[in-house]
Amino acid sequence: MAKIAVIGTGYVGLTTGACFAHMGHKVVCADIDPAKVDSLSKGVIPIVELGLQELVAEGIGGGRLSFVLGAANAAKDCEIAFLCVPTPQGDDGSADLSYIEAAAREIGPVLPYEAVVVNKSTVPVGSAKVVERVLGRPDVKVVSNPEFLREGSAVQDFLKPDRVVVGCDDQSAALKVSSLYDKISAPVIITDPASAETIKYAANAFLATKLSFINAIAAICEGVGADVNDVVVGMGSDKRIGQDFLRPGPGWGGSCFPKDSRALLKIAREAGYHFDLLDGVIAVNEEQFDRVADKILVAAGGDPSKLTVAVWGLTFKARTDDLRDSPSLAIIKRLVAAGATVQAFDPTVTGPRPGLPSDITIADTPYAAATGADVLAVLTEWDEFRWLDIEQVGSAMNRRSVVDARNILNRNDWRRASFDYQGIGR
Ligand SMILES: NC(=O)c1ccc[n+]([C@@H]2O[C@H](COP(=O)([O-])OP(=O)(O)OC[C@H]3O[C@@H](n4cnc5c(N)ncnc54)[C@H](O)[C@@H]3O)[C@@H](O)[C@H]2O)c1
Repeated sequence: MAKIAVIGTGYVGLTTGACFAHMGHKVVCADIDPAKVDSLSKGVIPIVELGLQELVAEGIGGGRLSFVLGAANAAKDCEIAFLCVPTPQGDDGSADLSYIEAAAREIGPVLPYEAVVVNKSTVPVGSAKVVERVLGRPDVKVVSNPEFLREGSAVQDFLKPDRVVVGCDDQSAALKVSSLYDKISAPVIITDPASAETIKYAANAFLATKLSFINAIAAICEGVGADVNDVVVGMGSDKRIGQDFLRPGPGWGGSCFPKDSRALLKIAREAGYHFDLLDGVIAVNEEQFDRVADKILVAAGGDPSKLTVAVWGLTFKARTDDLRDSPSLAIIKRLVAAGATVQAFDPTVTGPRPGLPSDITIADTPYAAATGADVLAVLTEWDEFRWLDIEQVGSAMNRRSVVDARNILNRNDWRRASFDYQGIGR
C-alpha cells in the first residue's frame, strides 16, 4: 500500500483522499484553510456529498487518513502527491494555473527522492511540463490523472469509474500511479500527458454539447408542439446516442463545464483551430438562461417590477451544496435585473452564502418561498420537490403558475390543481 499526499481537500481532493484510504492506502490530506483542516480532522466534512462523511470517519478511525495544514506538511514523506487544487477560469478564458504552481512550489523542496506528483486537477495541455519546471526536481516525475467524478455521486464515481486515465512519458511513474487503482475494476488507459489532459477537456465539452443540443431540440419541440421527453426516449434508445445527458433543463453550469469549455476554446485557438462548434454550444447555453428567465416572467404575467418569483433550487444540480456557476443563479440574476422580487428555497442553503445574490430572500421551506408569489420556478432537480402538497403550494401563491425548468413535476397533477404548468420542450 502506498503513502499518498493529497493537496487540496475540496470536492475532488477529499473524495480522492477518503477513497484511497478506503482502498487501504495511507493518505495525508492538506489544505490551506485552517478551519477546514480542523473540521476534517474531527471527521466533520464541510460539503454535501453522499457517503463521503462515512468514508472520512472510516479512514480517520483506521489510522489511514489524516489532515494537515499546508501542502509541504503532507508531501514531505509521501511517495506520491496528488494536486487537487482549483483551476478557475482566468481573465482570458484559459485555466488559471496559479494554485497548481503555488502547490508545486511548496512541495518541490520537501518531496522524497524520486517521488511522483500527479495532476488530478483539470489542467490544460502542457501543464505536466509546467509542474515539472516549478518543482525543479529532475528526480520527480509528473503524471496526469484527470478526475471524472460528478458531484452528488463522487464517492461512487471514484470507486466505480468508467475508466482511469494516466498520462506520463515515464512508464514506471505511470505504472506506480495506475497500481494505486488496483482494487478498482475499470479499464486503465495509459497514454502521454497531452492526450490525458485533452481527454478530460474533450469529455466535458462533449457532455456540454449533448446538453446544449437537447436544449436546442427542446426549443424546437415547443415551436412544433412535440414533447421533448418522448423525443429523448426515441433518440436515446439508439445505442449510438444513449439517453444520458440528454435531459433538457435551464442550461448547464457547475464548477467544471463553464470554465472547462472556455479553457478548451482557448487551447484550441492556441493550437490554431477555431472551435466554432464549442463556441455555439456555449452560446446556446447562455441563450437557454435567457429563454428560461423570459418564460418565467411571461408565466408570472404583468410588469416584472411588480412580480414575485418563487424559486425552488439554487445549487447547480441536486445532491450537492455547490453553487458555483449554477444555472439557477444565472436565471435569478436575469429575473432580478428585470425588476422581479425573488424568494428562493434550496435544501442545502439556509442563509447568505458566497456567490448568492444579496437581493434575494432565502426561505426555510418550499411553501414559504411560494408564499405570495406570482409564479413558481423549479430550477434544480431536487427529488423532494416532486412530492410536495400541491394544494398547499397553490393556496400560498398569488397566482397558480409554475415553470418546471427540470421537467420533474407531474404536470397532470399540477394542472388538475388549476396550475398553469409549463415545462421545457413540452
Ligand atoms: N468539482 C468537481 O466536480 C470536479 C470534477 C472533476 C475535476 N475537477 C477539478 O478538480 C480541481 C479541484 O476542484 P474542486 O471542485 O475539488 O475544488 P474546490 O475549490 O472544492 O477545492 C480546492 C481546495 O484546494 C485548497 N487549496 C488551494 N490551494 C491550496 C494549496 N496550495 N495547498 C493546499 N490546499 C489548497 C482550497 O482551500 C480548497 O479546499 C479543479 O481543477 C476542478 O476543475 C472538479
